Amino acid sequence: MKEMLQKLREEFGVAIAQVQDAAELDSLRVKYLGKKGELTAILKQMGKLSAEERPVIGQLANQVRSEMEERITACSTTIAEKELELRLKRETLDVTVPGKTPVIGHRHPINSTIDEIKEIFIGMGFQVIDGPEIELASYNFDRLNAEEGHPSRDWSDTFYFDEDSRVMLRSQTSPMQVRAMESMDLPIRIVAPGRVYRKDEVDATHSPMFHQIEGMVIDKGITMADLKGTLNEVMKQLYGQDTVTRFRPHHFPFTEPSCEMDVQCHKCGGVGCPTCKGEGWIELLGAGMIHPKVLEMSGIDSEVYTGWAFGMGVERLAMRKFKIPDLRLIFENDVRFLEQF
Ligand code: PHE
Repeated sequence: MKEMLQKLREEFGVAIAQVQDAAELDSLRVKYLGKKGELTAILKQMGKLSAEERPVIGQLANQVRSEMEERITACSTTIAEKELELRLKRETLDVTVPGKTPVIGHRHPINSTIDEIKEIFIGMGFQVIDGPEIELASYNFDRLNAEEGHPSRDWSDTFYFDEDSRVMLRSQTSPMQVRAMESMDLPIRIVAPGRVYRKDEVDATHSPMFHQIEGMVIDKGITMADLKGTLNEVMKQLYGQDTVTRFRPHHFPFTEPSCEMDVQCHKCGGVGCPTCKGEGWIELLGAGMIHPKVLEMSGIDSEVYTGWAFGMGVERLAMRKFKIPDLRLIFENDVRFLEQF
C-alpha cells in the first residue's frame, strides 16, 4: 500500500502540473480526493493491514492527502490570478481612441418660429397654454358661433371620428379660446400654439396638417385699438421696427368686427415681387373682437367684459422667415434640409 500511495502522489504531481483552468482543477480534485476518488479507494483497503502497519500507512495517507489539498489550493489561487489578469487585459479601455461623434439634431424651423413668437407674447404678459388636437365639434364650432350647416363643418373639410360629427381633429386653434374662457380667471391673456387639421390636398402651400398660434385677451374695456396696438408691436419685434401692417375687414363667426392683417412685403416694400406674389402685402393672420355670443356661451358677461382674438398660420411665417419655397419641405424632415436652419 505504501507503493500505491507513492504512485498516487507522483501521478497527482504530474496531473496537477498540467491543469489549465478552474474546471480542470475541480475534476482533478474529485478524481483524487473525492468520495469515490483514488485516495479513498486505497484507504478502504486499510482493513487488510496488520496492527503495526496501520498507523504508518495511516500517517503517510494523511500526509499525501494534506499535500494534495495544499497543492490544489495553491493551484486554485494561481488560476484565479491568471484569469483576473486576462480579464483586465480583455477589458482594457483605451481612453485615447477618438470617439464617435453622435449626430445631434436641432430645433425644427416650425418649433423655432413658434418659440420666437411665444417669447414675444410672454414678454407682454401673456400666458402660453396647450390643448387637445382631438377636439369636440362643440368646442371647435358651436361654442365659437359656427352653427350647424356652417360650410367649415362639412365632411369634405373636416376630419371627423364618428358618424354624428361630434369628435374631430381640430380645424383651428380657436377652440382654445373656449377652453381658456372655461377654465381661467378673468382677465385672460393667452397664446395657444399647436397643430390643426383640414382636408386639404398636399401642394406647395397646403398640407392637411399645419400649425396655428391662437391669441386672446379678455378684460374690461378692451377695444379694437388694443388688438391693433398689440399685433403691430408683435410684428415690429418679429420683423423690425419699420414693419408696416394693414388691417382689412373680413368675416369669422366668432369675432365681430373681424379683420385680416397683412404685413408689407419686406423684400419689395409693397411694390410687388415674387416673395409677395406681386401683391406687395403678405397675409399673416385673422383676428377680431370676440363676438358677444361667444363670451356669453362661456359664461362671461359681455356687458362688462370685451376681448380680442387672433389666429395665425405658423408655416406661412416660417416659410417667409427662412425663405422656404415649398411647404412640403417642412414636413418631409429630410435632415439635409433641416440642417440648414
Ligand atoms: N380661426 C381662424 C382661422 O383659422 C383665425 C382666427 C382666430 C380669426 C381668432 C379670428 C380670431 O382662420
